[in-house]
Amino acid sequence: MLIARAFGYPEASESRMIGLDAEAGVWEIVDPSGRHEVRVPWPGGSIADRPAIRREIVALYRAACEALGVAPREEHESAQASSHPHGAGNPHGAGHPHGAGHPHGAGHPHGAGHPHGAGNPHAAAAEDDSFSGRLRRATWDVHESSEHATFMEDIMRGRATLDDYAALVAQHYFMYVALEEVAGRFADDPAYAVFHPAALVRLPALEADLEHLMGADWRERVAPVPAVDAYVARIREVADQGWLPGLLAHHYTRYLGDLSGGQAIARVVSNQHGFGVEGVAFYAFPELGDLRAFKEAYRDALDVLGANLDEAEQQRMVDEVREAYRFNTETFLDLDKERAAATV
Ligand code: HEM
Repeated sequence: MLIARAFGYPEASESRMIGLDAEAGVWEIVDPSGRHEVRVPWPGGSIADRPAIRREIVALYRAACEALGVAPREEHESAQASSHPHGAGNPHGAGHPHGAGHPHGAGHPHGAGHPHGAGNPHAAAAEDDSFSGRLRRATWDVHESSEHATFMEDIMRGRATLDDYAALVAQHYFMYVALEEVAGRFADDPAYAVFHPAALVRLPALEADLEHLMGADWRERVAPVPAVDAYVARIREVADQGWLPGLLAHHYTRYLGDLSGGQAIARVVSNQHGFGVEGVAFYAFPELGDLRAFKEAYRDALDVLGANLDEAEQQRMVDEVREAYRFNTETFLDLDKERAAATV
């Protein structure tokens, strides 16, 4: 059920694994719109032997738990890297009724004003009152809307074409031109530098991906969709105000996303199109070291930042992260429109 809910069917009421092959597991899922047969690609790429099945299902289960904010069950620990921070001592089981009662999903009206944000009850109930925890809980509903936008789901289910993917990369390019230009302006501020090591910089990888996907003249053939124009204008506005937490709201939403769900996107895309690193270099952070450790250090830095903000400023930053998610969701909607217009 967790896998069904995390991978596209947030309102699933039944889920049964009915098959598998080298590339994916297959589930039969029932939700209010009917019965669906769903292929979910193995997170680690193609598999060749029996032990890999368990390893990949556990990886899917863990990704699902993370996406839904549910603490994973302890007994899966042995099949995972032992350094995984969750699991041990976790009082919640995967079959815990709270998991099944996840109240928010794709298409759920935005949860603005919800006292715990979109939080899954587990996440909201956790003793984690850190600022990074608050940020995550108070924005998870808009994360879900972004993740389950049709365009994104098509990419994740291997239904998108190479052109669709290239169109997405082009939009990322315009986003990161702005993000990384304003990052330059804050480079001397130690409070910012900690979030933005050189190994995070994405523009060179995006340029290489676009050249690979579209050819040497890609610059003449890309343009921002309206949502990206608005997104970029907002990033520049926040930077012009010198509002550091606001800028970090945008930084967090993009870069931590690239280091999280982005990794799954890269696996699906490179499996589908037979890429090596070319075409998906944007999602590779070869100089950053262990991604999980970096994300934890990033969250620690958010906690330090949050400790220096009063309640109103904390809430303002949360609101800006919600805005950033909305810009991303709008981008997917615009890409959908472009795609529909191109096929008329
Ligand atoms: C198919 C699309 C997506 C999938 C499967 C996905 C999945 C995930 C997962 C599993 C996590 C938790 C990882 C962890 O805690 O280490 C995560 C975190 C995150 N995602 Fe996504 N995501 C998707 C799309 C997006 C989009 C479009 C954005 C925004 C541009 C985004 C931004 C984030 C951020 C900022 C986090 C970190 C939350 C936190 O821990 O504070 N994601 N995502």
